[in-house]
Amino acid sequence: MKMNKGLGGRQLAGELRATDAGNPVRLLGWVQTLREFGGKSFLDLRDVSGLVQVVLEGDFPRPRREWVVEIIGTVRMRPDPNPDLPTGQVEIVADALSVLNEAQTPPLYVDKDDNEPDELRFKYRYLDLRRPQRGEVLALRSKIVHSLRDLLHNEGFLDVETPVLTKSTPEGARDFLVPSRERKGSWYALPQSPQLFKQTLMGSGIERYYQIVRCFRDEDLRGNRQPEFTQLDLEMAFVNEEDIFGLGERLFGAAMTSAGHPLSAPFIRMTHTDALKNYGIDKPDTRFPAPLYDLAPTLGGKGIKFLDGALEKGGIVVGMAVAGFFPSRKVVSTLEEHAKRMGAGGLAWAVREGGSWRGGVAGFADHVALDESINLCGVAGDGVLFFASGDALSSRLGLGAVHRSLRDNGDLGKPNTPHAFCWVTDFPLFESDGDGGVVPSHHPFTLPRGDLPLLENDPLSLSSYAYDLVMDGEEIASGSLRCHNHDLQIRILKTLGHSEESLGERFGFFLEMMRYGLPPHGGLAVGIDRLVMLLTGSPSIRDVIAFPKSASGVCFLTDAPGVADPHSLDGLLDT
Ligand code: AMO
Repeated sequence: MKMNKGLGGRQLAGELRATDAGNPVRLLGWVQTLREFGGKSFLDLRDVSGLVQVVLEGDFPRPRREWVVEIIGTVRMRPDPNPDLPTGQVEIVADALSVLNEAQTPPLYVDKDDNEPDELRFKYRYLDLRRPQRGEVLALRSKIVHSLRDLLHNEGFLDVETPVLTKSTPEGARDFLVPSRERKGSWYALPQSPQLFKQTLMGSGIERYYQIVRCFRDEDLRGNRQPEFTQLDLEMAFVNEEDIFGLGERLFGAAMTSAGHPLSAPFIRMTHTDALKNYGIDKPDTRFPAPLYDLAPTLGGKGIKFLDGALEKGGIVVGMAVAGFFPSRKVVSTLEEHAKRMGAGGLAWAVREGGSWRGGVAGFADHVALDESINLCGVAGDGVLFFASGDALSSRLGLGAVHRSLRDNGDLGKPNTPHAFCWVTDFPLFESDGDGGVVPSHHPFTLPRGDLPLLENDPLSLSSYAYDLVMDGEEIASGSLRCHNHDLQIRILKTLGHSEESLGERFGFFLEMMRYGLPPHGGLAVGIDRLVMLLTGSPSIRDVIAFPKSASGVCFLTDAPGVADPHSLDGLLDT
């Protein structure tokens, strides 16, 4: 980590080299370890730049782990160089040691990563972050964000802050609410995203906006989600999808370069329909070849009754093969659970080993048909064939989930390339709410594509100008061209079930803004935490956030949320 060397009249421990031998130094930092050997003490002194060995010869105070000290001394060549340490050729012979602060015995050691449970590691995050590998993640995060800001600034974007105490911004999660003291019985909502404000900025003549912004969503927390997270949010007036894809590729190029990864643009593009058809998921991991194949031509009418039944009912049979993989029955049944969770009726399988078939459907299915099927799925030798038959969408989603699970377990081998990006385009405008109504596939401000009369008659058939950017199979950014026509926006909101009253209450200011010359516009929001997680190879989103929250939304460090002080509640909740 680079720092102003003159700062505080000190040298940085990690930067000392053989060329400094003979020089006087003043070092400030933490005691990592202290060892006694041959009548001398050896202290590893750590600061933000790294470690150096300090030799205490004579009568010095004996500091302990994590005490903060000042050392005044001289650099000299080390008689026993340590090739594993950048400063390993030199050591400091101390003239003076002052203790600036003592420390209790730490509950985790900075020089060892014992894979402590998250509860412990994040409760003592300040100790955890002293570990160089943890601090480096935050340093890389800062560098990536800096590269994004630089690029946007150079391209004429304005960094504009939008309110945090605001009205609900629909992104599909629940709001975090804050009571108002002045307007009793009323609540602010923390923004799920600055969507309404960034569009209003387009109506304000700010043609290029961006913000690195905290978003708040009260939703079920899975591995790559946090209740508060950071977006790079941006919006542009007078643009088409190509403009946004081009900007997105430049942005990710800058981020990847700053993280030291090569990047090839333009990115792959795939419609939502093709992603589901070929990968069985709307966030395809394009580091692996598309896994799904239509097996009706090879397996239909070949003695597999449940499959023929599905085809007769207008269903499909979709298959996938993995070379050199021979799962046990137990593994197959776990995979089948994944498939069923996505709505598939089941997971059929058979294994070709040494050229002959066994397991699963091999007992009754035509082996020539199985040979043709596994070959069609791209496996010429031994391996496993999986297939699902029935309703098209759930069969594909089922196999998509099986593919994802195999990937996560390493059964697909190494990917072709370390990182791959893919724009998934043409998302449906709506999805079924499972109750006869529709919900937005992205959010309600997306521009529909195609035949607008269908909005009221067959809303689920409408596609849209919404896109996601997928990195290594994770949704990393999302955006759309927006509806800029007031009347069309009202039709969309009404299709979503909003009454006149709720339109006015929730979106009144926004709909009014749309009447005063809102330009065509579109934008994107990048999940910064997810991006940094993937670029640093961190196993969890928590690792890239200074002070993250647990799966139940509790701050490990402060234990928030907590009980409110009764005085803070005075006059807040009574209407
Ligand atoms: P969306 O809701 O898809 O779009 O969010 C954009 C990106 O933010 C990241 N993200 C999250 N990261 C961590 N924890 C979460 N809980 C979380 N939720 C989302 C993802 C996602 O791709 N207003 C629109 C964008 C637009 O239309 O311009 C929006 O917020 O990486």
